[in-house]
Amino acid sequence: MATIRVRNTGEQISDEAKVRQFLADQNVYYDHWDTDQLPADLRGRFVLSDDEKQQVLDAFQSDIESLAKARGYVKWDVISLSDATPNLEDLLKKFEQVHTHTEDEVRAIVAGSGIFVIKSQQVGYFDVVLEAGDVISVPENNPHFFTLTDERKVVAIRLFIDPSGWVAHPYADPEFQQA
Ligand SMILES: [Fe+2]
Repeated sequence: MATIRVRNTGEQISDEAKVRQFLADQNVYYDHWDTDQLPADLRGRFVLSDDEKQQVLDAFQSDIESLAKARGYVKWDVISLSDATPNLEDLLKKFEQVHTHTEDEVRAIVAGSGIFVIKSQQVGYFDVVLEAGDVISVPENNPHFFTLTDERKVVAIRLFIDPSGWVAHPYADPEFQQA
C-alpha cells in the first residue's frame, strides 16, 4: 500500500482510503495488483534475464491487459534496479531531476519499492512511497521524478502509449522542495 509524504508540511498519509483520495485529487492514477501472481522462483530476485522478465509479464498478463485496454497502452516491459545494477549511483543521480513527459508515466511495482516525487499545484511536491503491488501513473506534463527507497531495489512493469513519447524533458523549478 502506498503512503504519501507532503514535503511542504511534513504531512504523512498512510490510511488507504485517504491515500486513494489524495492521489485521485491530484489526478494520479493508483491501483494495487496481487503480487502473489509472481512465480515463487522469481521472488526476492532483482537481477533478471530477458526470459525471466518475460515470465514476470506473463504472470501479470491479465492485469496488464485490462489496464492497457482501459488507458490505451500498447507496449510494456520490465525493469529491475538494485545494487547489482552497474553505475546505480550515477543512474539515481540522473533520475533525481524534476522532469516531464508528453505521456503519462506508469509503473507497477512487482517487487521491492520505489518513490515517485510529484508536483501538485495545490500542495507542492509530495512523495508517493510505493511497495510491491502498487500501480501508479503520473499524468502527462506533470513534473516528477522517480527514485529508490533505502532498500535500493525494485522490479517494475512499465507501460507505454508510445515509447517515443517517454522522453524526459528537464523541468527547472525554483519551487522544488528538497526532502
Ligand atoms: Fe519520468
